Amino acid sequence: MLLKGKKILLGVTGSIAAYKSAILTRLLIKEGAEVQVIMSTSALDFITPLTLATLSKSAVHHQFHDPKSGVWTNHVDLGLWADLFLVAPISANTLGKFANGICDNLLTATYLSARCPVMVAPAMDLDMYQHPSVRENLNKIKAFGNIILEAETGELASGLSGQGRLMEPEHILEYVISHFSKTEDFKGKKVLITSGPTQEAIDPVRFISNHSSGKMGASLADSFAEEGADVYLVLGPGAVKPVDPKIKIIKVKSAEDMFQACDNLHKQMDICVFAAAVADYAPKHVASEKIKKEGDGMTIELTKNIDIAYTLGKQKSPFQIHVGFALETENEEFHAKTKLQKKNFDLIVLNSMRDAGAGFQHDTNKVRIFTEEGKSLESEVLPKNEIAKIILKEIKNLPVKI
Ligand code: CTP
Repeated sequence: MLLKGKKILLGVTGSIAAYKSAILTRLLIKEGAEVQVIMSTSALDFITPLTLATLSKSAVHHQFHDPKSGVWTNHVDLGLWADLFLVAPISANTLGKFANGICDNLLTATYLSARCPVMVAPAMDLDMYQHPSVRENLNKIKAFGNIILEAETGELASGLSGQGRLMEPEHILEYVISHFSKTEDFKGKKVLITSGPTQEAIDPVRFISNHSSGKMGASLADSFAEEGADVYLVLGPGAVKPVDPKIKIIKVKSAEDMFQACDNLHKQMDICVFAAAVADYAPKHVASEKIKKEGDGMTIELTKNIDIAYTLGKQKSPFQIHVGFALETENEEFHAKTKLQKKNFDLIVLNSMRDAGAGFQHDTNKVRIFTEEGKSLESEVLPKNEIAKIILKEIKNLPVKI
């Protein structure tokens, strides 16, 4: 009974997947949760309140007031009662209302007044789910701090096949259980993360840079914040931003800017993660005007940038943890272990460009982790947020006292 005593408000909206909310209710009750169900008006076309009331052992709410009995349902009370507001399935329509503060039924009113965490599991047809407005609404409510249980891939009610299926109730249950068993192991810890590429100016319109997307750094920042850390993200240009609004973002351009930002923060930090792809060299002279095309060739003289991880590694105290990254194309383990020693890292995360689904620009990654103590492990190809969790777990296992 992993959810004993937990109060879950289950929101059901108008989607063909609404029938799965019956299975979900049963699973939640079996784990000991107290469940109250709230339905949107169009959910009533897909599943009856009687089914959900029987399974949840509680009256189902779907209107502000029952004209027959005259009973008024207080959406504020419902929101205050819940430890978690789980909306599964959430339709594109209700998602749009959540993203824009529209409040035209009991379910949307409860969303606006709920103080508890909100978890939503979308269910939509293939093209609807990929529509930019739906993606934007999902990002918007993510930025409000809501938890998104992304749709699964498979056969859809329309006959099409792809991403859009409501996450299976058994998988939703796993997320709910892990939400309640979430640890705050980094509570009060100050964490510095560098992320994304740097840009080294050639002239006012051109620069040298690389393909880093910053997705790994953003996932790490979100994972640390979720575990209670006070996160400072020093972010290169164009890099993906994390979603947790508590993360402090310091935007930089060049390696020198990134170093200055990190140097200012370093002393107060407990953990530093160097996930940025810092340009190793920068043009020696930056032209003040746009360089004009002349002749058949051109040479730009480059000068070495400061190595941020190496420089701060020399100042690391015994109570600080430094984590580095290495992206290699050959002799990977040797290069990663050399960097681990040279830059005084406690742990290094190796990406190989030879692994499919790993490295720059991908949403997934496959890593090998080596610690200063000689421990090593290898992950499968996983979404970057799952890789971030593995890295955090290994940081927790380090012997350094933080
Ligand atoms: N790093 C850094 N500052 C730099 C270069 C790298 O902080 N100027 C950090 C990276 O963020 C990463 C680690 O050092 O955590 C290794 O980066 P990588 O580019 O693989 O190593 P380099 O030392 O630049 O070696 P090379 O490019 O020759 O492989």
